[in-house]
Amino acid sequence: MKEINIAIVGYGVVGNGVAKILEEKKQLLQDKTGIFINLKKVFTRNWNKKFAYPLHEEKKAYSLDEILNDDNISIIVELTGGIDFPLELALKAIEKGKHIVTANKALLAEKGKQIFLKAEEKGIRIGFEASVAGGIPIIRALREGLVANQITKIYGILNGTTNYILTSMLNEGKEFEIALKEAQELGYAEADPTLDINGTDAAHKIAILASLAYGGFVDFSKVHIEGIENISLMDIELAKELGYILKLIAIAKSHDGEVEVRVHPTFLPSDNPLAKVDGVFNAVMVEGDAVGETMFYGKGAGSLPTASAVVSDIVDIAKSISNNIGREIEITSMNWKHKDLNLTKVKDFFTRYYVRFTVPDKTGILAKISSVFAKYNISIAAVLQKEKVINKIKEELPKGTVPLVILTHTASENNLQSAVKEIQDSGFVEGKSIIIRVEDEEN
Ligand code: HSE
Repeated sequence: MKEINIAIVGYGVVGNGVAKILEEKKQLLQDKTGIFINLKKVFTRNWNKKFAYPLHEEKKAYSLDEILNDDNISIIVELTGGIDFPLELALKAIEKGKHIVTANKALLAEKGKQIFLKAEEKGIRIGFEASVAGGIPIIRALREGLVANQITKIYGILNGTTNYILTSMLNEGKEFEIALKEAQELGYAEADPTLDINGTDAAHKIAILASLAYGGFVDFSKVHIEGIENISLMDIELAKELGYILKLIAIAKSHDGEVEVRVHPTFLPSDNPLAKVDGVFNAVMVEGDAVGETMFYGKGAGSLPTASAVVSDIVDIAKSISNNIGREIEITSMNWKHKDLNLTKVKDFFTRYYVRFTVPDKTGILAKISSVFAKYNISIAAVLQKEKVINKIKEELPKGTVPLVILTHTASENNLQSAVKEIQDSGFVEGKSIIIRVEDEEN
């Protein structure tokens, strides 16, 4: 029986899950792979805490050097948070000839180029299945299962915490703060939950998927990101009447040599399969030119679902070490590392829009608004004005005003923003107008 020694750095929610799987499923993993994966050492800064999966003393490392300088450790599983520390660790591990498995999407989305180029130079493998959509094997699907396809579009729910919050608010009427607290207690949220709420976490993940699907690095600073901080129940309720459900959606799609990479609250038709994905579940739709539409669904966060993906990478690398498959295969399968993707600017997005104006209930307002839309070549698909607003909505509007919702057909972002600005500046609407993008068959 071949034996591969590994070490974990960072012993939090996911680290505990990985140790539990490696220890408790030793036999299953051996039966399936013919390899004994030995968890030799674990490093965390503070061993004086209570752990979900406590370890024997001999497994505990008290310095990183104990791991980096141990020539018998072939794989380092990086499960810390943030970017600076894991980047330093990854670069040191590569120098020492150790393969890396990481769940750190921030690290890969923001510093991936540096890490992958260095790893390539040294013949090191980086496993990152757990970095996107927790337990769903979407990285392998894109890299291997769908390799025959030109990917036309990827879109999905890639953040469990925000999906949990939106579902709890919508279905159970929970307050935002309470739902967030629950997500934190269940181990779904990032150490800094603002990264979940403001869309950054989902953006990190879609940037990684876009790199794999379109064969190049994504400049993360150019990804368009909006979170769920400013979503109001009014828009959720009004859009429901038009047959749409709100989700935080991450999108990557290619056209004309460019790739659109964006994350924002999005209305989906209620019969879209993603509209039915609730709680901590993630789901990713991938469209390929040969396969058509595919959907991947599973738990996108949490200890064991994420650990399941981490262990799959450990096993994958352990197999290639024991079969002596190295550098050559890795280089050919990772050709995408050598170019940067050309990202579409926000003003050039083409999609459908939900726009809510707050208007005085007077003659001619709708006509004025629709004439500005026509001027900017924006075709209106549906209009909803509420005479009597439901209780939840009522309190949010200035006296004597009503919400007027316009749902557009596919339009240019630039035109849409200009039209809304002109309407806003003209003074026949009150307050700030709300714009939410809509994703459906038409676009
Ligand atoms: N905070 C992330 C989420 C964890 O809620 O989806 C998994 O990356």
